[in-house]
This record gives sequence, structure tokens and C-alpha cells, in this order.
Amino acid sequence: MPSLRFVTTNSGKVREAEEYLAGVRDVEQFDYDYTEVQSSDLATIAAQGAEEAYEANGGDAPVIVDDAGLFVRGLDGFPGPYSSYVEDTLGVERVWTLAEDLDERRAAFRCVVAYTDGETTETFDGAVQGTMVAPRGDGGFGYDPIFEHDGETFAEMDTERKNALSHRGRALAKLADWLADRDA
Ligand code: IMP
Repeated sequence: MPSLRFVTTNSGKVREAEEYLAGVRDVEQFDYDYTEVQSSDLATIAAQGAEEAYEANGGDAPVIVDDAGLFVRGLDGFPGPYSSYVEDTLGVERVWTLAEDLDERRAAFRCVVAYTDGETTETFDGAVQGTMVAPRGDGGFGYDPIFEHDGETFAEMDTERKNALSHRGRALAKLADWLADRDA
């Protein structure tokens, strides 16, 4: 089976991709820190990251890069593409403090997975809707404790349930369908 390199320092993401791409591609981890371009668009950030990583990898296998973020409606989509920076600087508790006083607390996690094989670059998006809540739960990572979906925060769900409905899973499922169609 052809292989695909997932450009990430996170081995949990690689395992998630292996599940979605089973039977379509072998997934290998490519531990490479690409430059995150300044953009308000996840697809632009992921596509440019994939193209940079493809070159850095010597162009011998297709690569994928994912970029994700939390978009709070009542904050006009903040922190969105800046989610990682905001998590490191403000921190998750203070993002909740910002959301706490809002009338509009609906939010979405969004993810774009970008694929490139050097000739074709394609992006696939996935989203999951939820509501901002006071932190609950010990599992997960990042903004999971303050994002509630269907009565549970992502930090209260087991990994299997979260992966089955996550933004990244939805984007990976679209990639898997696209690759399977291309192979057919
Ligand atoms: P990345 O693109 O996966 O590095 O994620 C960007 C930012 O969004 C980081 O601050 C992550 O912690 C956060 N993030 C991405 N996906 C999730 C998730 O599933 N749960 C909680 N936070 C997430």
C-alpha cells in the first residue's frame, strides 16, 4: 500500500489518521516543525505547511499537515487560527473568562487537513459544533475542558467517542474518500 507522511510532532494524531486511512494508505510520522504562515485562513496555513514539508522531506512521499482551532461565535471567531498562540499566552481558563459573559456562546472546532504530492495540493475541512462552558473533565488536551458537545465536554469523553465526532476525524474521513476515489 502507498504511504503518506503525517507532518506532526504529535503521535496521537498519527494514530487517529491510521484509523481513518486504514486500507487506503500506510501512515508514517514525519516529525518536522513547519513555518506557520500568518493567515486568518486554516486552509492557507495547512496548504503552505504541507508544501514546505514536502520539499523538506525530499519529495519522496506525499505528506499531510493539519491545522485546527476553536472558533467562538460571540467573539467573532476568536481565537480561530490563533488558537495555539492564545492557548500558550492567555491560557484556556482565560478564554473561558472571555466567553463567560457572552450571550452567544456557541462555538466550533474546525480543522483543515492539507495533502500534497508535489503536483496536487488539496484541502479537506471538518467541524464540530458545541458550546463554551466552565471547565469540566480531566481528559483530552487544549480547549477540550471548555467545549461542550451533546451535554459532555470533550475532556469528559473517552478518546474513542471524541475521535469519532472530532473536527480532525471529519477532515481525515474526507481525505480517505478522496484518495480511495483517486485510486479507483
Ligand atoms: P493544532 O493545529 O492541532 O496544533 O491546534 C491548534 C490549537 O487548537 C492548539 O491550541 C490546540 O490545543 C487546539 N486544538 C486543536 N484541536 C483541538 C481539540 O480537539 N481539542 C482541544 N483543543 C484543540
